[in-house]
Amino acid sequence: MSELRFPAIIVNFKAYREVEGDRSLRIALECQTVAEESGVNIMACPPMTELSQVARAVKIPVMAQHADPKSPGSATGWTTPEMVKASGAMGTLVNHSEHRLSQGDIAIVVGACKKVGLRSCICADTAETTGRLSELRPEMLAVEPPELIGGDVSVTDANPEVVSDAVSAARKVDASIPVLCGAGVKTGKDVKRALELGAKGVLLASGVVKSKDPRKALQDLVDLI
Ligand code: G3P
Repeated sequence: MSELRFPAIIVNFKAYREVEGDRSLRIALECQTVAEESGVNIMACPPMTELSQVARAVKIPVMAQHADPKSPGSATGWTTPEMVKASGAMGTLVNHSEHRLSQGDIAIVVGACKKVGLRSCICADTAETTGRLSELRPEMLAVEPPELIGGDVSVTDANPEVVSDAVSAARKVDASIPVLCGAGVKTGKDVKRALELGAKGVLLASGVVKSKDPRKALQDLVDLI
């Protein structure tokens, strides 16, 4: 697997109307343009229906929003890590706040990802959970207080301690695992603050996907890095 570069910005497309069908590819191409212009590592997380199309069309890293703890075979409607890998994606979010898994299932998914050569970014709601989940040695962690997700106040302003505490908690287990933060992140100032708090980047959605001008929103995000 090639090296991941930090600081990094992961744009989670979620299941917004704005990313249905070809619109996902359009936003991913905006991510690519801004990544190329700025030199910042921007990763795109399109919905599963568009994953393969996007992964094959862009040069920036593409990740799935979720993978299931299932093995290849009779698993109707589930998405195995093997399928994510075959789509051309380089990794997947695991345990996003909107798609939680049990601790046991998180371990199964992260293990399967390692086996097939996919990177995992495990999401956690608190600093304590971030520390605990870092024991699974994912390639990235992201702390996101659920109550701030989709809102207008960035976690870096509303709860900066959760970011610095999550970074310390993960560091105690393995200082080499990058911790990102997310929830309400929308501006370059938020990204700068995240980096000051020890995060290696941000995971965000609405600030880009719901923006009238996603390219402008992305340019603002990388502006102070
Ligand atoms: O995965 C990113 C996310 O949950 C944060 O969403 O809209 O607050 O940037 P948002």
